[in-house]
Amino acid sequence: MRHEKDWYKELVIYQIYLRSFKDGNGDGIGDLKGMIEKLDYLNELGVNAVWMSPVYASPNVDNGYDISDYFSIMEEFGTMQDWEIFRDEAHARGIAVIMDLVLNHTSDQHVWFQESKKSRENPYSDFYIWKDPVSDGGAPNVWMSVFGGSAWEYVPERKQYYLHLFAKEQPDLNWDCLEARQKIFDIIRFWNEKGVDGYRVDAISYLDKGLDGRADFQEKIGTVACVNLEGTHRYIREMAAETFAPDHLMSVGEVNINHEQDARNYSSAKSSEFNMAIPFVLPIVEIQTWSPEKMKRDLEKDYQALKEDGWWARFLSNHDKPRQVSLYGNDGLYWKESAKMLACYIHTLPRTPFVYQGEELGMTNVQYDSIEEYDDIDTKNYYMSMLSNGASKEDALAESQSISRDNSRTPMQWDDSAYAGFSTHKPWLGVNPNYVKINAANQMQDDTSVFRFYQKLIRLRKENPVMIHGHFALCCSKEGPVIAYTRSLEEVTWLIIHNFSEEEQSFEHEKIQSAEQVILSNYDEVKMENGQAKLRAYETLIARIE
Ligand code: GLC
Ligand code: CA
Repeated sequence: MRHEKDWYKELVIYQIYLRSFKDGNGDGIGDLKGMIEKLDYLNELGVNAVWMSPVYASPNVDNGYDISDYFSIMEEFGTMQDWEIFRDEAHARGIAVIMDLVLNHTSDQHVWFQESKKSRENPYSDFYIWKDPVSDGGAPNVWMSVFGGSAWEYVPERKQYYLHLFAKEQPDLNWDCLEARQKIFDIIRFWNEKGVDGYRVDAISYLDKGLDGRADFQEKIGTVACVNLEGTHRYIREMAAETFAPDHLMSVGEVNINHEQDARNYSSAKSSEFNMAIPFVLPIVEIQTWSPEKMKRDLEKDYQALKEDGWWARFLSNHDKPRQVSLYGNDGLYWKESAKMLACYIHTLPRTPFVYQGEELGMTNVQYDSIEEYDDIDTKNYYMSMLSNGASKEDALAESQSISRDNSRTPMQWDDSAYAGFSTHKPWLGVNPNYVKINAANQMQDDTSVFRFYQKLIRLRKENPVMIHGHFALCCSKEGPVIAYTRSLEEVTWLIIHNFSEEEQSFEHEKIQSAEQVILSNYDEVKMENGQAKLRAYETLIARIE
């Protein structure tokens, strides 16, 4: 597909976590064949882009985010030919193909690292971040990795430590090394030539570690200490200019944002880095700090910062977070209402909506009975660290369950047959037992389902430029669980209201006249007249007021 300059603004991007999407060959692991089978489903949903989690060869220490060969497909997922069929079939349906690029680190099994660790004098010696031990033989500094433990690992052959901000099997690349950068750009050019339409670039805020001349860091977590340094921006600009930008390929950087300026740096057209930024927030921080009030503050702040020049991803779920209906909604009594409300929220905010697989069915968190049933390296490390800090097994399990990345990685719930129709074989990760009730097959037969609601929202976006380009203004109190805003473009103004609570709320706005103004809602009848709307549990609505 050829792309115009700003084409990414019109996308609705569906994220596929392959391993859990659909198994096409009966080995319990999702794959490209399975994805091909489900393209009609995605087409029916209406999305126009698919971002697939990493499909490259990988030993799967971090489920594909540890790549051992960027030019080949992971055997479990299929072959390059399968990938090409997927690409062609997706394109035939007008669906853009977005690849996940992991460029901050490789797998320790990658040939560059295998070579690099052999000696200090080999062609790949400088491709990773090697440092001498300090005088007592210890690690170069106090940095911890994101997944726990020191961020440094000693290699006797070189008598040096290498840096890994993530797992020790994910050594960080040295972006300061020109040859390494050239090889990295070659990888991107290879995929460009294969007809990829865009990239989601993983963990990109840490390229420059800022280690030179600095040893004494206050921050113990490596990714916090080296986040968003100027060198990182320089590398990104170089990469964009050499790879994505010339053909207007879509690029979204997964970034850590500490303040508005960071968001602008990564995503404004002026800075020539990414088309959009997709912020990363640690699940535990999100769980502990979120509230409707905080959401409102963030909405206002982001919008003010980025409205002139900046674009970013709108999402509540991904493969690193708990399920959105369990975290921000209510996955019990108001499951359906709240799943729809969250959908309406994402799709009516400014910028580009991302839908994470299964979210369109209202899939929920899972609670496995024991830690052995979990797969995620982060969950396991977290559990072990709680035990070593003296927590009981029950407490450690309960807390690990709530933050686990496996909540969003359980197999897609296609129907109510064995293993939820995901596979004919026992899946690599247990199916959520609620698949009997929550599944695609029954939702596709039900006009009031969560799936149908997503479909309506996506269609509305295609038909109404106000959803894409409309000016945004909050119009609700700073306090309380009601989030309301207007979107306006030329002579059209929409009012969007959400009740983020179980309790009934009333909301006032001078332009409210009657329920006839309503374009979409998650209740059969809307109670709205003379300047006031009465909102029931998790009610959401879109009304045209001008
Ligand atoms: C990103 C990915 C996450 C992965 C990490 C390391 O945050 O989304 O799944 O573990 O980077 O690559
Ligand atoms: Ca398979």
